[in-house]
Amino acid sequence: MARSALLNVMVNAAMKAGRQLSRDFGEVQNLQVSVKGPGDFVSSADKAAEKIIFEELKIARPDFCFLGEEGGFVNGKDKQNRWIVDPLDGTTNFLHGIPIFAVSIALEREGQIVAGVIYNPAMDELFTAERGSGAFFNDRRMRVAGRRNLIDGVFVTGIPHLGRAEPGRAIKQISQLMNSSAGIRRSGSAAIDLAWTAAGRYDGYWEMGLKPWDMAAGILMIREAGGYVTDLENRYKMFETSNICAGNEIIHKKLLAALKEADAK
Ligand code: IPD
Ligand code: CA
Ligand code: CA
Repeated sequence: MARSALLNVMVNAAMKAGRQLSRDFGEVQNLQVSVKGPGDFVSSADKAAEKIIFEELKIARPDFCFLGEEGGFVNGKDKQNRWIVDPLDGTTNFLHGIPIFAVSIALEREGQIVAGVIYNPAMDELFTAERGSGAFFNDRRMRVAGRRNLIDGVFVTGIPHLGRAEPGRAIKQISQLMNSSAGIRRSGSAAIDLAWTAAGRYDGYWEMGLKPWDMAAGILMIREAGGYVTDLENRYKMFETSNICAGNEIIHKKLLAALKEADAK
């Protein structure tokens, strides 16, 4: 599997930040934690990881714009290219010593995501995708799962907490899927949910209330793994609506329909 120079830059940045996160994860009890908002903890580890990524990407592509969860938007001379970065997706897991968290880096070019990297340092799992060149788990090609019926599928979602997203609506959606699937999971990292759906571990994924950095790299991974990804209205407007639904062509359609049915209840 040949990676482009650009993807190599992204992988190196993600792995360097991942090594730092691994060290911090080992000392998670000693981290100084501050509260950013309801239920949204930000640790010194997030910031340290974003700094590493920012600097690595800056050296390789000094003119690109940068959007990071921690530092916000940093303008660059090259307006066509924008990095979209979540240095630590799965913060709550991280702070609780649960090894399900990831670095997520995407490159958006002229409004389209063209490359994505998701790296879980605790499991040493690397997921990559480039537009038109496929998606890979470590060095193996990824494909979304092939199941055709909701009842055979395992689905993953995010459960809103402390006033985030729409809890009532989420409960109806979960109840709908509880009664029509083989099971529902909640991992605590949207980036990993998308990567694992692209890898065929989950049959489908949906969530409301996400930010672009939670999903940018994962969106490309789903598409490059042969899957479908839209918002809950079947439009390609995930960043605008903050909502997402993914799976293979048939599951994606059935999942959207099930979520609509839940909304009507
Ligand atoms: C969160 C995770 C989680 C999702 C939340 C996100 P963070 O990101 O992706 O799975 O349910 O909506 O905010 O805060 O851990 O970077
Ligand atoms: Ca996130
Ligand atoms: Ca984060």
